Amino acid sequence: MIQESNNLNQENTEKPKTVYMGLCADLLHPGHLNILNEAQKYGDVIVGVLTDKAIASYKRLPYLTYEQRKVIVENLKGIKKVVPQDTLDYVPNLKLYKPDYVIHGDDWKTGFQREVRERVIQTLKEWGGSVIDVPYTKGISSTQLNNNVKKLGVTPEMRMGKLKRLLHAKPLSRFLEAHNGLTGLIVENTKILKDEIPKEFDGVWISSLTDSTAKGKPDIEFVDLTSRLNTIHQILDITTKPMIVDGDTGGLIEHFPYTVKTLERLGISAIIIEDKIGLKKNSLFGTEVEQTQDTIENFSKKIAAGKNAQVTNEFMIIARIESLILKQGMEDALKRAKAYIEAGADAIMIHSKEKEPNEILEFCEHYSKFENKKPLVVVPTTYSQVTEKQLETMGVNVVIYANHLLRSSYLTMKKTAELILACDRGKEAEENCVSIKEILNLIPGGN
Ligand code: SPV
Ligand code: MG
Repeated sequence: MIQESNNLNQENTEKPKTVYMGLCADLLHPGHLNILNEAQKYGDVIVGVLTDKAIASYKRLPYLTYEQRKVIVENLKGIKKVVPQDTLDYVPNLKLYKPDYVIHGDDWKTGFQREVRERVIQTLKEWGGSVIDVPYTKGISSTQLNNNVKKLGVTPEMRMGKLKRLLHAKPLSRFLEAHNGLTGLIVENTKILKDEIPKEFDGVWISSLTDSTAKGKPDIEFVDLTSRLNTIHQILDITTKPMIVDGDTGGLIEHFPYTVKTLERLGISAIIIEDKIGLKKNSLFGTEVEQTQDTIENFSKKIAAGKNAQVTNEFMIIARIESLILKQGMEDALKRAKAYIEAGADAIMIHSKEKEPNEILEFCEHYSKFENKKPLVVVPTTYSQVTEKQLETMGVNVVIYANHLLRSSYLTMKKTAELILACDRGKEAEENCVSIKEILNLIPGGN
């Protein structure tokens, strides 16, 4: 099990040997305790509890906060010291604590952790330390545990806090639009492995455009809060991820506090309101249609009214600036960003309908120099060529894919309808359809 032979006999050495173990401690199981027991045989155990940031860098945000996980580990038997580990990479902590051993389940010999292990081995060599690989405990599946926790669901309070935790833990979080229960499930459950690292969406965007369109209505604030709440409830029911709601203009200043209270009570993490007034049209029409931007004073009052109404620290009010959409210029956009932050906005969304990300880039450049800077949100629908990496480099904190599930499903549904008409039967449309078996088994509990 030990990679390089090392003297286990501590009797002759002055200082006791130390063993370092990295631990998430989110879903603790006997496999972890087995490694801890093993570690104690080699010396004093230091546990590096991975911070939210470290965990979110390679998998989902943990269920429990760092503080909660730290308390759990501190109360386990046989641990000398508990320290934070802020990166998946062990090296910074290893250099700090210079342990004689690093212990880990032998599952890190494969997959993306292989490289992490290699770096540990190289670093330990500097002071003659070595790695201990403990055989993986059979019969315990973290995936199964994870699925069981997901089945339990989430409380409104836990869900609401997840956006702030994400902003703290990840440089860039990605949200995808959902407009009913089914699309909610896609946002919740879609996972891929990219370069051996699991990837999924961080949360749900409740878009006014797709919610309205799915109901066959225009995106002009006609689908009111009661109706929007129907969609929101469907999605809350079957997801655990944080939700950002598109609040259109936020309505009248006098109405906005009630909207905030309702959404907050449900465990929504944030509402985004745009600085337009009167009959709202979708931003992607730009100046093709008549749209009026609100005054800075009035919109700032609305933000402040919302902030006064919320009862938790977790709920966020995000101010969306339409200056670039309405061709009011960069200076106006930046002036508004400053004013809205001053009024209490927890984050800024800057929108653009240009085909290139240039004006967003320029905004980000100026914004990064703000002294009082809040997280930045963008919606790259028209400039979709921009990559998440580029956005991250530009200082963007949340990217919203605002309408992609609706647009892609509409495309396929329309093709299917046309094919049935053209062929006088359903066979040819089958290639656009998932199998009946898959759809029957998609939602458990139907059989
Ligand atoms: C929405 O998704 O409803 C939005 C983003 O508000 S946009 O459609 O680009 O205006
Ligand atoms: Mg909208």
